Amino acid sequence: MKRKVTKAIFPVAGLGTRFLPATKSVPKEIMTLVDRPLIQYAIDEAREAGIREFIFVTSRGKGALEDYFDHAPQLENELRKKGKDELLETLKSTNMDSGEIAYIRQHKAMGLGHAVWCARRLISNEPIAVILPDDVIAAEKPCLKQMVEAYEETGGCMVAAMDVPTNKASSYGILDIKEDKGNLVKVKGMVEKPPLGEQPSNLAVIGRYIITPDVLRTLNQMKKGAGDEVQLTDAIAEEITRGRDVHGFRFEGERFDCGSKAGFLQATMAFGLARAELRDELMSYMTDMLAHRAAAQ
Ligand code: G1P
Repeated sequence: MKRKVTKAIFPVAGLGTRFLPATKSVPKEIMTLVDRPLIQYAIDEAREAGIREFIFVTSRGKGALEDYFDHAPQLENELRKKGKDELLETLKSTNMDSGEIAYIRQHKAMGLGHAVWCARRLISNEPIAVILPDDVIAAEKPCLKQMVEAYEETGGCMVAAMDVPTNKASSYGILDIKEDKGNLVKVKGMVEKPPLGEQPSNLAVIGRYIITPDVLRTLNQMKKGAGDEVQLTDAIAEEITRGRDVHGFRFEGERFDCGSKAGFLQATMAFGLARAELRDELMSYMTDMLAHRAAAQ
């Protein structure tokens, strides 16, 4: 019987240089889409997929992340006294129980593969989810849940996948397709950030993975790949050379690259418009703004 996926690794050690100066004192993962930090979207998605243990791979300067998941008794008391029950419930829903969450430090920035490897001692012989919080996915059924359901049929390793324009392929891990069955794609190879024009397909890896513990063992070798970093993509690809199944999963939903400013702003608009209490005001602002722009041209 396949073991259930109940643990997830969240690599959050990155410096977030693209968002300086904001990230000088605030971890990128605490930056908010509407009123929820990026990391909260990732946690909510993981929980809905059945994840019960949350492992954060952090680095220096990420203290605010640990505080964010802590209980805030003083704040909760204040809200209780003032009868702000709804806010109180929202606040409580972000608390993590003791033992549910673990923090591991990545002492050197050696790549995504290395970050994931840092969590190896907290993993036994079980499949593990990896979530990159920069990739925010709006979906009716959360992306990781879709994947966990597909994984129950396939086993092996699975990566979220999305078709990207040819000129963007060199920013991603790209899949070499063996068999395309629509949602599910059997993979015969994977390349991290292929040079322009050398990508084996336009199907890119998006930041949701289900990996087997063998991938962690492969990472022990610390082989360096693209950008002279230890790449998760390469360690998963090695499973294929050992004759094991790796699948890409074309999820249903809209993905926002919140690691880029444009992507972050697009996500802010999309998540704002999805809120009933904000929709009308935002819509009328956007309509007016576009009309002004058009008139000025
Ligand atoms: C990482 C992965 C890459 C994947 C991408 C998705 O790259 O290494 O394979 O396609 O996330 O967002 P990064 O964006 O950290 O450079």
